Amino acid sequence: MVENDDFRHTKLALSNGSGAIPALGFGTLIPDPVATRTATKAALDAGFRQLDASERYRNESEVGEAMREVFTAGTVKREDVFIATKLWNNNHRPERVKPAFEASLKRLRLDYVDLYLIHTPFAFQPGDEQDPRDAGGDVIYDEGVTLLDTWRALERLVDEGRCKAIGLSDVSLEQASAIFEAGRIKPAVVHVESHPYLPQWDLLDYCKQNGVVLQAFAALGHSSEPKLLGDPVITAIAERVNKTPAQVLLAWAIQRGTALLTTSTTPSRIKENFEVSALPDDAMREISEGIETRVRFNPVVETGIPGFIPRGNGVR
Ligand SMILES: NC(=O)c1ccc[n+]([C@@H]2O[C@H](COP(=O)([O-])OP(=O)(O)OC[C@H]3O[C@@H](n4cnc5c(N)ncnc54)[C@H](OP(=O)(O)O)[C@@H]3O)[C@@H](O)[C@H]2O)c1
Repeated sequence: MVENDDFRHTKLALSNGSGAIPALGFGTLIPDPVATRTATKAALDAGFRQLDASERYRNESEVGEAMREVFTAGTVKREDVFIATKLWNNNHRPERVKPAFEASLKRLRLDYVDLYLIHTPFAFQPGDEQDPRDAGGDVIYDEGVTLLDTWRALERLVDEGRCKAIGLSDVSLEQASAIFEAGRIKPAVVHVESHPYLPQWDLLDYCKQNGVVLQAFAALGHSSEPKLLGDPVITAIAERVNKTPAQVLLAWAIQRGTALLTTSTTPSRIKENFEVSALPDDAMREISEGIETRVRFNPVVETGIPGFIPRGNGVR
């Protein structure tokens, strides 16, 4: 076990953007507004210097309040935190991108973000309704705009100096490479679900070859069934290296060269999740090669509709 304080402060350079993204990130997909504020503050206090938000989470104001409180107290400086937020599906029309971006900045109480992502490649009917449905309850998609049209609007935000880097979320390798080929500004980050049950090795290889950072969400498996945190390979390694299963999973994500996002509303777990250390090579191999379960917990990539799949009693 390598006990190295530098490990938890690992940063990945953004070849297609400026600066670097801290590997260990805290996500703010937290439904309760009070819990959002408390958890965001606790994450900054614990040492997290990468935060992920989204207009779709409808809590950017609470994330903004928590950040403002910490920045005002002077314990952490704005410029030392890498902050990302995301454009939602109802705002893909190019003329809607800048207003949506500015509304996010205002709620977050920021004058720039480090990263702006297109939350999913699916365009929904343009308008203020985030989840537009027809009379039959089906989502209304927008066939009048392409992902590249939306990407071009994000490029203009970079030109205007309003965000330092742009990227894609919930995309396939094909969708990521199409934007990479066509984009004047290349994606700095591709943000997708990834963990040992969904390692996305092909996408990670592509990203590494092209200087793109893969940012892995649901790094702990979102507490969903089957429980990644209870996988026997993970729990055996945790015992051997004297770390928790969560710390093993987060270390694996950093060590294979991704940035990651984890979330907790429990103060002790927020601290635990920042106290990671590098794993020995044999543990890395056991996780990468010895775990064969394959599960995608979140089907957002198939429809653009957010939500993790509930699975009762471990039945899939
Ligand atoms: N682009 C997208 O479509 C998309 C989709 C999903 C997520 N995301 C982003 O990714 C972030 C992380 O995703 P996620 O929520 O799935 O992350 P996750 O870390 O895999 O799962 C969070 C769950 O794990 C539990 N947990 C956290 N630390 C733990 C620990 N040390 N031991 C045991 N359980 C622990 C939390 O419980 P407690 O809260 O009870 O502690 C919570 O139920 C989100 O906040 C969001 O920013 C993006």
